[in-house]
Amino acid sequence: MEVILAEHAGFCFGVTKAVETVYDQIEKEKKNIYTFGPIIHNETVVGDLEKKGVKVIENIEELDGISEGCIVIRSHGVTRETMEKLENTGLKIIDATCPFVKRIHKIVEEESEKGRSIIVVGSGSHPEVEGIVSYAKGDVTVIESPEKAEEFKGDRELEYTLVSQTTFNRKKFQETIEILNNYGYNINVVNTICNATDERQSEAETIASKADAMIVIGGASSSNSRKLYEICSQKCINTYFIQTLDDLHLDLPSSVRLVGITAGASTPKNIIEEVQNYVRTNF
Ligand code: F3S
Repeated sequence: MEVILAEHAGFCFGVTKAVETVYDQIEKEKKNIYTFGPIIHNETVVGDLEKKGVKVIENIEELDGISEGCIVIRSHGVTRETMEKLENTGLKIIDATCPFVKRIHKIVEEESEKGRSIIVVGSGSHPEVEGIVSYAKGDVTVIESPEKAEEFKGDRELEYTLVSQTTFNRKKFQETIEILNNYGYNINVVNTICNATDERQSEAETIASKADAMIVIGGASSSNSRKLYEICSQKCINTYFIQTLDDLHLDLPSSVRLVGITAGASTPKNIIEEVQNYVRTNF
């Protein structure tokens, strides 16, 4: 049986940078290190950081009375309001927002300053999208899917600038734009889907289309991993979504010749290696 591991599996550039930033801080500061939300959607990594004294802050109120130490902003970024409040705490802010996310903040800010309405294609409750939305100076709408684009009641007299959550599915993004164009909206599209996501998704789709079984490794709350799972299951009915090797209960028929493995942006290398080694040695 052949096993193919996707080249673009695991940590992307932005997540690597954010995680390294926290480990660097542990070396430098030793104590009073906070992250605004878990630095990545991976319990193993977050657990390791916690053991080393890093505290996860879920909301700004938890910082009441704390004015010493540093807080690391994760790769998704935060809302403008949160950033302003953090600046007032007196804590040192280490901004590990991915530069690709920062670019979207800038586009949204500049375009809305020009008087354009903003459309963000992505999941409205995702912290990255909440951050992006907060940079709009005027009218802003989140469209979560092509189905929601059908329901969009905009104004054909307005000029819209449309951006995307970095991890949005590229096919659904195209579908969403087509629908909005067909309804006659005046839209300037800036495709802000991150290349890392694009490459990961295309490669996963290619592998899944020829694999008899496909394993997607990712955190339960990692949206890019869930999207990978969605893409792979459309091409391969035996697609498994796991967080770690412990979740893998493969019962493969002897006819299985090719198993593909991919992983979301927040999956550490060692977990991918473990799964890969297990599949190679046990099947
Ligand atoms: Fe950045 Fe792309 Fe990763 S936006 S955090 S490099 S998925």
